[in-house]
Amino acid sequence: PIPVILDCDPGHDDAFAIMLAEGDPAVDLLAITTVAGNQTLAKTTLNARRICSVAGITGVPVAAGCAQPLVQPLRIADDVHGESGLDGPRFAEPTVDAVSGHAVDLMYRLVMSHPEPVTLVPTGPLTNIALLLTRYPDCAGRIREIVLMGGSTGRGNRTPAAEFNIHVDPEAADIVFRGAAPVTMCGLDVTHQALATPEVLARLTALDSELGRLCVELLTSLAGAYRQLWGFPAPPVHDPVAVARVIDPATVRCVDAHVAVELHGRYTRGATVVDLQPHPDRTVNAQVGMELDSASFWDRVIAAVDALGKR
Ligand code: BDR
Ligand code: CA
Repeated sequence: PIPVILDCDPGHDDAFAIMLAEGDPAVDLLAITTVAGNQTLAKTTLNARRICSVAGITGVPVAAGCAQPLVQPLRIADDVHGESGLDGPRFAEPTVDAVSGHAVDLMYRLVMSHPEPVTLVPTGPLTNIALLLTRYPDCAGRIREIVLMGGSTGRGNRTPAAEFNIHVDPEAADIVFRGAAPVTMCGLDVTHQALATPEVLARLTALDSELGRLCVELLTSLAGAYRQLWGFPAPPVHDPVAVARVIDPATVRCVDAHVAVELHGRYTRGATVVDLQPHPDRTVNAQVGMELDSASFWDRVIAAVDALGKR
């Protein structure tokens, strides 16, 4: 299995990234690290523990990371994910604890000690990853790839130009795209093809497990927010797309590109400026997801939920 560290800000769709990463046999999930984003760090860390508890994920360390973006104040997405960051279901007190120590130190230790290069999958703002790369530059060569959810080749979702994860911490994203580790960007182009349709909900219901029902509650809450805020007929489940790319690269068709992060635009700060036909002056620095095989994506997500639900 592929050794993976999942760095997340749960968040409804982050919860599905956690379940896919732990529930799919192709991944060896080394750690779940948390960052402030959809909600405060205290809430995203509690939510990671909640998901681990309900999904029976007991052997994977959960460690909290950065509580604030590198430069600007935190801006949360409580309009989408609610006051708790995971509105919808009712959770019991989690039985899984977080480990002590900073997420970035845990990541460094795991990356340096693992016999194989490790894949990082960030599904929140890139604050922890940027800190890892700047504080511990020697780890870049030990990172197989950074497969992130964030950005867009076109329009944003948090502003007309910027996608949420990049918008929350543009300086961190800039460090990651200009860093030494290879980057794959799974942005809105591809995650807007990962829609939790009524058929997906019916399949999760048909699993007839506690976890399947919890997934339906999460997606129903997410659906309400996306319908109300943006008129989506079904909500995009962004974050597990990055995990699916790691599991089976063919699930997400990517193209070589040059990605720059806009740091200064008055209306465009946090935008990913993607050159899909890089001019010789701009070297390719990322693979960018363009097309999702949504049938095999949902097959894998549902299979992972089913496997965890039977634990
Ligand atoms: C991203 O923003 C967050 O609200 C989601 O969890 C996802 O990571 C989508 O733009
Ligand atoms: Ca997220």
